[in-house]
Amino acid sequence: MSDGFSLSDALATSNNPTPSAPPPQGWPSWGNQPPAPGGVPAYPGPPGTYPGGPGAYPGAPGAFPGAPAGPGLYPAPGQPPSGPGFGPSPPQGGPAPPMKVPFDLPLQAGLLPRLLITITGTINPNANRFSLDFKKGNDIAFHFNPRFNEDNRKVIVCNSMFQNNWGKEERTAPRFPFEAGKPFKLQILCEVDHFKVAVNDAHLLQYSFREKQLNAITKLCIAGDITLTSVTPTMI
Ligand code: GAL
Repeated sequence: MSDGFSLSDALATSNNPTPSAPPPQGWPSWGNQPPAPGGVPAYPGPPGTYPGGPGAYPGAPGAFPGAPAGPGLYPAPGQPPSGPGFGPSPPQGGPAPPMKVPFDLPLQAGLLPRLLITITGTINPNANRFSLDFKKGNDIAFHFNPRFNEDNRKVIVCNSMFQNNWGKEERTAPRFPFEAGKPFKLQILCEVDHFKVAVNDAHLLQYSFREKQLNAITKLCIAGDITLTSVTPTMI
């Protein structure tokens, strides 16, 4: 596929690289990347909906897929998440207060294709490392770990941990987009068989699922040398 093929193309139009409608609200520009295999996402619902209840908030009562009527789990793009665990709304005219790190985001129905998690924050001065861990119990389905000084190099390490054993590291990120002291936006999109990661609105890397039981991956842990401003799951 051509270099101009974008995520919005992949999701919106099966295999057609011609841009059609403008991307929905909250949609990142992921930059150059291969399309999803087959081009068609597995999740059949329209954007902004979640199985079991359209666009809603994790933790809301009756929120599991298949649960009786009630709010769904993940909010639609543009709907502000509210409640515990999410980035506080900035007081009018003022900056949002930082959130505690390490930070755990419960994902009550687990992962599913088209779940987009947007994390904003600032890299600490003199940062050494930070990590995202998508967890299934004690196992880590996806460990995303920027290291600012590994033998004087910056590197992004991705891996999984099963039964306390780390697997083979993937160190193929083509660039290192984080800078000590600077703000960032980090987005993780769950696809049908891989995660996509974008930083500051540009696609960075993909990580193929090693743990395939998506609905059992029910926690995102964020740790390390960053301050967090917001952590926002949405369905796209
Ligand atoms: C280890 C490190 C872990 C994790 C792992 C990834 O060396 O201690 O925190 O980053 O590498 O392979």
